[in-house]
Amino acid sequence: MFTIHDFLKKKKDRKKITMLTAYDYPFARIVDEAGVDAILVGDSLGMVVQGLENTLPVTMDEMIYHTKMVTRAVKSAMVIGDMPFMSYQASVEDAVRNAGRFLKEAGAAAVKMEGGSEIAEHIRAMTRSEIPVMAHIGLTPQSIHRMGGYKVQGKTEEAAKKLIKEAHVVEDAGAFSLLLEAIPQDLAKKITKELAIPTIGIGAGPYCDGQVLVLHDVIGLFERFVPKFVKKYANLKDDALKAVKAYKQEVEKGKFPSQEQSFK
Ligand code: KIV
Repeated sequence: MFTIHDFLKKKKDRKKITMLTAYDYPFARIVDEAGVDAILVGDSLGMVVQGLENTLPVTMDEMIYHTKMVTRAVKSAMVIGDMPFMSYQASVEDAVRNAGRFLKEAGAAAVKMEGGSEIAEHIRAMTRSEIPVMAHIGLTPQSIHRMGGYKVQGKTEEAAKKLIKEAHVVEDAGAFSLLLEAIPQDLAKKITKELAIPTIGIGAGPYCDGQVLVLHDVIGLFERFVPKFVKKYANLKDDALKAVKAYKQEVEKGKFPSQEQSFK
C-alpha cells in the first residue's frame, strides 16, 4: 500500500507522485491496476457523477458512500477522501469528526481539505487525532462564490506572496502534502522548492512533486466544462455511445440475441 511516507520519499528521491480521482468500484479498479500512487475521492463527483452545477451541495454521507466503493476496489493505491463543503468550515470539532468518518467508516488513509491559514487549527487537531491531511490552496472550488468563478489564482505579486505564506502555514500545521490548483507554474515551482512536504499540482505546471487530474476528464467522460489544464487520453463517451447505439440497432433488427447468447 502506498502511504504518506511514500509521498515524502518520492519527493526526496525526486520521483513524481501520480494521483487521479475515482468515485466507484470499476474505475477505482482500473486506476489501482494502472499503478497510480493515490486516488482522490474528490467532491468533483458532484459535477462529473451527480450532474450538479458545482461541488457545494455534495454531502458527507455521499462522500462516504463513494469512498467505500473505492476502498473496496483498491489493492495498492492510497485512498484520500475529500472533505465536502460545510463538513469542516463551521468548527474544528466538525473537521475532526467528519474526517474521522473517512478513515473509520470508509477505509480511507487520509483526507484533503480546501483552505490555507483559516484551516491551520483544523489541520493541527486532525493530525493530533491521527488523521493525515492534504491541504488544497490556489483555486479552491468550494470558494466559487467568493472567487467569482473558476479563475487562475496567484497572478499578482501580492496574491502570489499570500499563497506562498499559506503554503508554509499548512505545512507548519502538519499537512503531509499540499495540492496546488490553477496557479502560475513559476509560483508552483517556488512553493515546491520551499516546502519539505510534496506538492501535487492540477493546473499548476510541471514543477510540482506530483500531478492529479479528474479521471472523467482524462478518459473523456465529462464534456460540459474542460479546463485548459486537462489532457484527454481517451474518448470513452464516444465509445460508449457507439456501443449503446449498436445494441439498440441489433435489438430492433432482431440480430441480438443470436443463438450464441441463447440457451437450448
Ligand atoms: O474534487 C476534486 O476532484 C479535486 C481536484 C483538485 C482533483 O479537488
